[in-house]
Amino acid sequence: MQQERFFGQVPVVSNEPLARDTWLLRLDAPAVARTIWPGQFVMLRIPGCQDPLLGRAFALWDTQETLSGGPRYLELGYLVVGKMTRAMRNLHRGQKVELWGPLGNGFSEFEVDHLVLVAGGIGQTPFVALTHAALHQRSYGHPARRYRARKVTLCYGTRSAELLAGVEHFQRLGVEVLLSTDDGTAGHRGLVTEVFQKLLPRLSGTSVLVIACGPEPMMVQTAQLALQHQLPCWLSLEAPMACGIGICCSCVVPVRRGQGWDYCRSCLQGPVFDAQQLCLEQMA
Ligand SMILES: Cc1cc2nc3c(=O)[nH]c(=O)nc-3n(C[C@H](O)[C@H](O)[C@H](O)COP(=O)(O)OP(=O)(O)OC[C@H]3O[C@@H](n4cnc5c(N)ncnc54)[C@H](O)[C@@H]3O)c2cc1C
Ligand code: FES
Repeated sequence: MQQERFFGQVPVVSNEPLARDTWLLRLDAPAVARTIWPGQFVMLRIPGCQDPLLGRAFALWDTQETLSGGPRYLELGYLVVGKMTRAMRNLHRGQKVELWGPLGNGFSEFEVDHLVLVAGGIGQTPFVALTHAALHQRSYGHPARRYRARKVTLCYGTRSAELLAGVEHFQRLGVEVLLSTDDGTAGHRGLVTEVFQKLLPRLSGTSVLVIACGPEPMMVQTAQLALQHQLPCWLSLEAPMACGIGICCSCVVPVRRGQGWDYCRSCLQGPVFDAQQLCLEQMA
């Protein structure tokens, strides 16, 4: 069954701070909220806005249901870094945004003992809905996908404690959260990959899936560590995207093809890739 794609304008329900420079935007978008899978994304544009003219990609944070049942609200978490996200900060209730999606492949179904998530910067965003589904058997999307994990650990690193966004949310869902910050203001002082490396000896003997999202060097290092330990590893890439639907080729990433390699469009074949598919040495 084909997933239906929406294109249109939807109203903002709320736009609230989650942490320093980090916001949660809630949209009244039932057509997308009903169909989207964890790991998929939407493209968002502000109507009438010339700068930026192009939309930006945002991963599904979570969906919210109405009392009468069925997902209606679509939530996106964003970090203010540039033109679009600065403009998004000023979005208010009732204002309309242009939205198209759901887009991309999303996370494939899995059943594991231990799901290990590694997030850097704003890379935690695709993991909220995934955790909800994996630990609490909440179903997402149409057709629905199943994700199951007996335990979930999130290794999550930012530059400083005040940039950590959504930690309580993960803890409420029953996730073991291991933090790191560059300046040592929360958790381990240093890189999130060091936290993941320390965790690795605890992972043997169980069925494990590692998924990483964040800055590319962090994802590459996570994948190399996981593969050295024979652990399956998926990466949720954030290659800059202009169209989200396979037209502009702004999002290409190097993938293995036979003995060589080729480029593929991460908005169509991704953003989630098995690390073994990617040419990690070219991405590092
Ligand atoms: C599949 C996917 C999912 C994403 N999900 C989220 C999300 O959930 N939350 C979120 O905040 N952002 C997410 N992004 C990134 C988002 O699409 C924008 O690129 C980002 O918000 C910056 O947009 P801007 O207009 O504010 O900054 P711009 O004005 O475009 O750029 C500001 C600065 O950031 C750099 N930059 C822009 N885009 C990227 C990028 N993708 N990677 C690295 N550097 C970049 C530019 O080089 C520039 O230095 C996602 C991207 C993809 C492809
Ligand atoms: S974003 Fe345009 S082809 Fe992928």
